[in-house]
Amino acid sequence: MRYLIGTNIKMYLGYRESLRWLADMNRDVPETDLADAALFPPMLSLVNGRDLISKRNISLGAQNVCWSHEGPYTGEISPLVLRELGIPYAELGHHERRLYFNETDRTVAKKISAALFCGLKTLVCVGEDADRRDSGAEEFARDQIQALLAGNSDAPPERLVVAYEPRWAIGVAEAAPPEHARRCCDAIRGKLVEIFGPENGREIRIIYGGSVKLEDAADMLEQKNINGLFIGRAALDTKNFAKVVEIAARQAEADQNGGGAARRPASKKPRAAKKPRL
Ligand code: PGA
Repeated sequence: MRYLIGTNIKMYLGYRESLRWLADMNRDVPETDLADAALFPPMLSLVNGRDLISKRNISLGAQNVCWSHEGPYTGEISPLVLRELGIPYAELGHHERRLYFNETDRTVAKKISAALFCGLKTLVCVGEDADRRDSGAEEFARDQIQALLAGNSDAPPERLVVAYEPRWAIGVAEAAPPEHARRCCDAIRGKLVEIFGPENGREIRIIYGGSVKLEDAADMLEQKNINGLFIGRAALDTKNFAKVVEIAARQAEADQNGGGAARRPASKKPRAAKKPRL
């Protein structure tokens, strides 16, 4: 499976800065058949930003869309307009959309249906709050997948990506421990297989997001059901993001050669074992 490294840069950059960032991404991200990059810049930069992207493995996406493709919805962004502009992805259900803009599983499920109806690919975010971190995280992720995707069980797997983003790990100092991410992504995989069937359910990419830094990438990507990463602040530095794409391509190559961890660069010192955070 090709890995997917995504980044949502939220509202961190202005319009001109976003265009510069997109141009730098196009310069820095390696063009490879082993790893894709999906960039979610601020909405207004998508129109002109599209012309700055020429590498075949880089796609653009919107950080949100409306749950209808047309009608009396003042201030909303139609998924059909994104389609018209040639923007392939819509990111839906991010924690900050739920927290600050009152989105619920019900409205996110409607947005997923509208985006798929308009021919977009959807990147669907799920993940538990801090109170479920130590107990019930897997069950919570499974329930969210059911609520968000069961109504679209006939969607082609290449048009769906699930981002597992535990809410307690977003915007903090450290990503979730890889073992926690692994358990929840395994549970998500089980649920996807249940909804979409064994073949399609295994083809949908599951990516981990929440305070990912360059040094987390290799450990996360070694996990079988983590098929990519979703990065926020750390991707403001385009060279950093490009290095994560390189790591993903190396892991994809290792997978093709029979699995196991990708060989790390020889110069890198082994990392001290982290204390378990339980
Ligand atoms: P962060 O953002 O990497 O800055 O925590 C991740 C996200 O919200 O997807």
